Amino acid sequence: MSKKKVRQTHKRGTINKMSPLEYFRIRLSTVQPFMEVPFNIYLFVDGKIVTYLHAGDKLTDEKINNLHGKDTGESFFVHNDQRQIYREYVRKSMNSADISNNVKATILRESSIAILEELFESPDVKKALEESKPIITDLLDFMENAPDSIGNLISLTGHDFYTYNHSFDVSIYSLGLGQALGFDKKTLEELGQSSLFHDIGKRNVPLEILCKKGPLNDEEWQKMRQHPTYGLNILNQHENISDAIKAACYEHHESWSGGGYPQDISGHEIHPFGRLVALTDTYDAMTTQRSYNTPMKPSEALNMMKDKLSGRYDPDMLKAMYSVLFKIEKAS
Ligand SMILES: [Fe+2]
Ligand SMILES: [Fe+2]
Repeated sequence: MSKKKVRQTHKRGTINKMSPLEYFRIRLSTVQPFMEVPFNIYLFVDGKIVTYLHAGDKLTDEKINNLHGKDTGESFFVHNDQRQIYREYVRKSMNSADISNNVKATILRESSIAILEELFESPDVKKALEESKPIITDLLDFMENAPDSIGNLISLTGHDFYTYNHSFDVSIYSLGLGQALGFDKKTLEELGQSSLFHDIGKRNVPLEILCKKGPLNDEEWQKMRQHPTYGLNILNQHENISDAIKAACYEHHESWSGGGYPQDISGHEIHPFGRLVALTDTYDAMTTQRSYNTPMKPSEALNMMKDKLSGRYDPDMLKAMYSVLFKIEKAS
């Protein structure tokens, strides 16, 4: 689309009247600096939407500096009419020989998380699962083309635990572990989706508990432990969601040697997806910065899972996780 045409459809005067629902969020890190950007980028300021960058303009250092640190990762928007242009732009960047795998990993991560934010809010979980498929396919393609880049896909800056980042990171680890275990492509796709939605039941846990800074008390913990059951109930409201996807959600807090929740089942009674997500979920929790802890290094976390928490995880999966860790450490 030409620059002129884009500007015509988004005249400044009409912008303020548009509802935020007409826009979708993007991360500025998915936009290449010093190259023409083929879509308009907007900012929400004091409840109003303003143009930050016109289609055809370039994102310069000066432009970024003018924000005075406003790049919170949440404040940039593109109009829904230009969604396809944005997607094609991201796809083109992912296929460009001029962009390093490091940068590609950031683009893929940040563009996926923006989509996830929307999907996780969606009341129609079945549709959200369906729409998450291209994210998983893109991730698998990237991991195939750049097998050593898995570590670059993981957020390197300490992030909050209960965010989309957690679900995304658990998916990356799960896909890495699934690959190491020799899962076929179709199983990997389902595993990726199920990992993204493993904590969907947390929707029904009060926000003050999810975001509490510090350890939970007994009553809060009791509520938190309901999230696998809440998740299963949510998934059961929709037809044709596979048992594997339900298992990752309902069984990811079970323990290989028993004593987990909510069913207290053990060993092979737990679905392979449940066993696998149990491992990648804990691993992410241990290596992630939370408000009250210091994150562990990848090898520290895995050694602790092997030595102090052994028995909780499928031993073959735990062993395979070391090869995933090797890639992560190599990348960081
Ligand atoms: Fe969970
Ligand atoms: Fe989780």
